Amino acid sequence: MNNSWNRRDMLKALGVATAGATLSRSALASLMSRPVESTPHPLFRSPDRPVTAIVAGAGNRGNTYAPYSVQYPSELKIVGVAEPIPFRRDRFSTKYNIEPRYVFKTWEDIFKVPKFADAVIITTPDRLHYGPAMAALEMGYDLLLEKAIAQSWSQCLDILKLAQSKDRIVAICHELRYAPFFKKIKELIGAGALGRLISIQWMEPVEHIHMSHSFVRGNWRNTAESNPMLLSKCCHDLDLLSWYVGKPCTRVGSFGSLTWFRKENAPAGSTARCTDGCAVEATCPYSSLKVYQPNKGWTHVFDIPEGGDRQAAILDNLKNGPYGRCVYRCDNDVVDHQVVSLEFAGGVTASLNMEGHTNYGGRRMRIMGSEGDLVGDESDLFISRFKTGETARWNLKENADISSGHGGGDYGLLQAFVQAVSQHNQNLLTTTIASAMESHLIGFRAEEARAKGTIVDVGKVD
Ligand SMILES: NC(=O)c1ccc[n+]([C@@H]2O[C@H](COP(=O)([O-])OP(=O)(O)OC[C@H]3O[C@@H](n4cnc5c(N)ncnc54)[C@H](O)[C@@H]3O)[C@@H](O)[C@H]2O)c1
Repeated sequence: MNNSWNRRDMLKALGVATAGATLSRSALASLMSRPVESTPHPLFRSPDRPVTAIVAGAGNRGNTYAPYSVQYPSELKIVGVAEPIPFRRDRFSTKYNIEPRYVFKTWEDIFKVPKFADAVIITTPDRLHYGPAMAALEMGYDLLLEKAIAQSWSQCLDILKLAQSKDRIVAICHELRYAPFFKKIKELIGAGALGRLISIQWMEPVEHIHMSHSFVRGNWRNTAESNPMLLSKCCHDLDLLSWYVGKPCTRVGSFGSLTWFRKENAPAGSTARCTDGCAVEATCPYSSLKVYQPNKGWTHVFDIPEGGDRQAAILDNLKNGPYGRCVYRCDNDVVDHQVVSLEFAGGVTASLNMEGHTNYGGRRMRIMGSEGDLVGDESDLFISRFKTGETARWNLKENADISSGHGGGDYGLLQAFVQAVSQHNQNLLTTTIASAMESHLIGFRAEEARAKGTIVDVGKVD
């Protein structure tokens, strides 16, 4: 694996060093009650004109980011779109009033006309990140690039190097770094509330229906078409772990497999589709007829027009599309559970568990330091301090204003991206491509470790 990227850049990109800071007794209470740093960065300022952007891929994420331009028209304007599905393309170009000459069927077409915007927002499937990212950088566009960056470490390096040689801004959508819950943890560690960081236990419970929707029936089910589960689901987790530790990962080991969603586990009497007269449909937790109800989540994937017969449209999709397939008879190959053991420079250890078989979502974490420990679940944080016996609780809803998806992270990311582009200053982002390289390096190395059944050196620090 080519690891010529200078990992000293990672240390800079990861921000403040966290080891060794200490906290006085009185400081804990004020630190816990202090609002999460929500005031804009001191260098943020109103742009002279809105940043203009083209959206490549008008699916779920494209439609998550673009509304920022409606809420903050002085910051962002959407001026182009590329999307092969006519329903999505028309809906998007109408909503954002895009000139017909800048409405394209596929990302390649964007780059057949002269540059007409500041940035491209790349929200295509993972396998279609590398092509548009490289083409956009060649033409001098800045990028908001969805994670995972690409499908291999060498592709990630290519994008990083081209961004650097063209002096372009590339923000990676690790939006959890902007979410108050995760920012609070960073703040507490940085202020020394736990003393010296010793180790972290981290769990990403995917929730079993989410698992079936995205990673068994849906877009991220197959490694070749997308990425290994660790990259497509847990690059956020690897990114947060690196951000908190603030030091390079030195070694990884990993185990995991696709245990349950396999043909040999299909119940007797089950059929290729839930609509084929499956004998166990009524009792199957994954029955598509139960999961995809007109007023429940997940149905956005079916592209149902406003005012259309939702029930009939869903049934048609379940009979003919990927989401009606029996979960035991899909072409999925990504793992449904995986553990990763990580060692960082300086001896901090971490474990990451990705669990596809839970009835709940929301990351869980236990962070241990020399002077205290922290337990959290994306809603509450509890801190205990050993010397003083102090304990404190911090609750997300009581302490933060969550006005966008991913716990407020989505719009925090966009705000920083607009600033970085309009001021041409990547230091206004905490999610540069340089900062995201570490999580991707760990992810690809951990997959190597899982495949080979060995411990893998993540990379020499230059
Ligand atoms: N940051 C996050 O937390 C987060 C969350 C979910 C997904 N993602 C990532 O965002 C990306 C998009 O995911 P999504 O959930 O929006 O998927 P999606 O399937 O809803 O959207 C992708 C869109 O790209 C379109 N597309 C396909 N081929 C194209 C082409 N040649 N040119 C232009 N568009 C094309 C598809 O038709 C689709 O509308 C993925 O890389 C995914 O891993 C990130």
